[in-house]
Amino acid sequence: MTPLVELVGAGYAYEDGPAVLSDVDFAIAEGRALVLLGRNGSGKTTLMRLLSGGLRPASGALRLEGEEVGYDRRGLTRLRTTVQLVVQDPDDQLFAASVEQDVSFGPMNLGLPEAEVRERVDSALAALDITALRDRPTHLLSYGQRKRAAIAGAVAMAPRVLILDEPTAGLDPDGQERLLDVLARLRAAGTTVVMATHDVDLAVRWADEAAVLTPCGIRVGAAPVLLSDPELLASAGLRMAWSPTVTAFLRAHGFLGADAPGPRVPEALGALG
Ligand SMILES: Nc1ncnc2c1ncn2[C@@H]1O[C@H](COP(=O)(O)OP(=O)(O)O)[C@@H](O)[C@H]1O
Ligand SMILES: [Mg+2]
Repeated sequence: MTPLVELVGAGYAYEDGPAVLSDVDFAIAEGRALVLLGRNGSGKTTLMRLLSGGLRPASGALRLEGEEVGYDRRGLTRLRTTVQLVVQDPDDQLFAASVEQDVSFGPMNLGLPEAEVRERVDSALAALDITALRDRPTHLLSYGQRKRAAIAGAVAMAPRVLILDEPTAGLDPDGQERLLDVLARLRAAGTTVVMATHDVDLAVRWADEAAVLTPCGIRVGAAPVLLSDPELLASAGLRMAWSPTVTAFLRAHGFLGADAPGPRVPEALGALG
């Protein structure tokens, strides 16, 4: 099947810098929960900006459903109504006076009828559970609330692919759980979700597909397989995840059958007994 979004032979270097990515083939298939893992500086943000049109590949191409993206107005509009990026720091994304104004900016800019803009804003605010914050000035919100407002702005564009750059960074455990609930609801509604993180535990828990950025290139595969590969994780400068480590231990000591699923979170360990 043709991937929804695809970089083909893509390379990128910042001005005066060495190549951050070179000859990258990277595809996002519809329906995935795809995690992009790598240490700081490995190129996660650069890759996401290439996929969402914020950066243009210096070589190679970006394709949407097999068709090369043009970086003119028409091409970029087509890209932005398909792929939306939520940047890591909400303060780099939010700019309007109130939450509602911020969330409505994208749909309004598409020239949608007022009624549809209102409907999209309402449903994005509801999806992020911030309807009560609609008239609040964004600069008076907590960090977690600003993150939600930034995500709502992307969701209001009704993208088929939502890309989130380190969405759990800076959130407390409850904030992380709420974010995972939001992502689960978006996925149930048919949105493909891509997330960058260096939190391998989160990746194991959430993703079905993983892309690991290593100095030798990007390895892509089923998340449970790649994320339980100690050599791959070490080469990427990442730690082993808790769940595969504990699962291997439980199996080795006869606490868990060979085919039984292991605990994904510490809370599930107690439930095994
Ligand atoms: N705006 C920029 N100008 C110059 N170099 C940059 C810029 N943004 C990132 N880089 C460099 O590109 C590399 C990849 O960065 P980035 O994509 O931000 O990685 P990650 O998101 O995995 O931390 C790093 O070496 C970083 O220093
Ligand atoms: Mg980054």
